[in-house]
Amino acid sequence: GLAAGLDKNGAHIDALLALGFGFVEVGTVTPRPQPGNPKPRMFRLPQQEAVINRLGFNNEGVDALVRNVGRARRTGGLLGINIGKNKDTPNESAEDDYLHCLRKVYALADYVTVNISSPNTAGLRELQEEQALRQLIGTLRDAQEELGAQHGKRVPMLVKIAPDLSDEDIDAVARVLRDLSVDGVIATNTTVSRISVQEHPLAHETGGLSGTPLLNQSTMVLRKLRTRLPDSIPVIGVGGILSGADAVAKMSAGASLVQCYTGLVYRGPEL
Ligand code: FNR
Repeated sequence: GLAAGLDKNGAHIDALLALGFGFVEVGTVTPRPQPGNPKPRMFRLPQQEAVINRLGFNNEGVDALVRNVGRARRTGGLLGINIGKNKDTPNESAEDDYLHCLRKVYALADYVTVNISSPNTAGLRELQEEQALRQLIGTLRDAQEELGAQHGKRVPMLVKIAPDLSDEDIDAVARVLRDLSVDGVIATNTTVSRISVQEHPLAHETGGLSGTPLLNQSTMVLRKLRTRLPDSIPVIGVGGILSGADAVAKMSAGASLVQCYTGLVYRGPEL
């Protein structure tokens, strides 16, 4: 699968499926359009095969996404839609944004990803804290069941987590996601850590680091999460996959599916 963040246009989805991806995930989409952060907001670290981005959910809003995605033919693969909150929505009302997006994309999506792990929206990752997570995902799970009955189709909902969680954080996240029986977890988003690129002149740039320097950290979080979740909850592995061997490492750590983004930047369709 292709990880979230790429274009949200129907033709792009079809082109990516035609490349052979089993599934494509688009987003993150927010209720209202927003411009994202000022440019420059994306940096390549080619020697490291890494990217630092602080796009900040630049997107045309969920109504435009629904129009665009509605034009895709979508043959030969599944479509995930990744939802988030607007920058100017306070965390106290974050669940309204997620609910709004969930309802709007439900009929179109083969699965929905709840993104609470982008480092580029202030405070977003606080939604991973145990109480906030239980509240948000509990509300979304209820809405998911309601929508399932209304539409006569159950759409899986997955939660995407950060690679910067401590062991205690991972315990808490696993506890909540198990209690609420989410359909799956995506591990992981980009990291705010710069340990593996310390020397690089662009390492000071604010944003999320992806690509090879993320691989081991991300796989560690995936493995810990896998051991703490029941077998009934699959985990999608993402973070630093630039080769088949990297994908195998994710599967060995317990991933049922894998995604990549930065790998496509450096390796192209050959990957
Ligand atoms: C991302 N990623 C991302 N994730 C997400 O949930 N919502 C988003 O909008 C974006 N946007 C985005 C833009 C860019 C330019 C990059 C490089 C990444 C994170 C992405 O889906 C993935 O989780 C990480 O990049 C780790 O995987 P890779 O890139 O190392 O394969």
